[in-house]
Amino acid sequence: MLTHDKIESNLGLLIVLTVLIVAVGGLVEIVPLFFQKSTTTPANELVKPYDPVRLAGRDIYIREGCYNCHSQMIRPFRAETERYGHYSVAGEFVYDHPFQWGSKRTGPDLARVGGRYSDLWHRTHLLNPRDVVPESNMPAYYWLDRPVNADSIGARMKALRTVGVPYSDEEIAGAEKALEGKTELDVLIAYLQGMGTALKQAR
Ligand code: HEC
Repeated sequence: MLTHDKIESNLGLLIVLTVLIVAVGGLVEIVPLFFQKSTTTPANELVKPYDPVRLAGRDIYIREGCYNCHSQMIRPFRAETERYGHYSVAGEFVYDHPFQWGSKRTGPDLARVGGRYSDLWHRTHLLNPRDVVPESNMPAYYWLDRPVNADSIGARMKALRTVGVPYSDEEIAGAEKALEGKTELDVLIAYLQGMGTALKQAR
């Protein structure tokens, strides 16, 4: 018999059983999420795959490490929803691979920053945050005012297609052209302006 006594006085057995219980408990919580509609299907018809411009902007967001200071996940607490808007729902992120939820908030959460400021505000802010927010300690990203590299955008869309983002062949073929004449700032701002707007517009 596996009595309490026996388990507690046998360290090896205690470790094995603890790991087993935690593993089963974790799986029971996590695995059903892979099959739940609310986590695997878009929150509404306004949640769409990123167009090439926003996708390129998202890649710059990741390259520059913006996630080190900004989360993209509004928690369902009053203090958060009053400040940022509707809390984030899983169905908003079905085309985010990998998602940018993050957990560090040196700066504000950005999940619903889309439409909050003008493009010009973002341009000024990214080139030198102190020009619009004097007390800001966000770094200046002055080098982003240069042409965006469009060479790999088609390949990146194809990669996303393999993990389930429904890009058509035409969309992929036209991607390089969509980035023509755009700067890294342009595409990053397009990405920011789209953030969290699907749920905002639906309400
Ligand atoms: C070292 C931390 C840090 C990094 C890295 C950082 N930020 Fe910030 N960010 C802040 C802080 C602090 C603020 C608040 C003050 C301000 O508005 O400048 C802020 C504000 C913002 C805002 C305004 C949000 C609002 O609701 O008012 C946007 C948009 C933004 N950051 C975008 C970015 C982007 C895009 C990047 C990457 C290119 C980035 N940030 C990188 C710290 C950071």
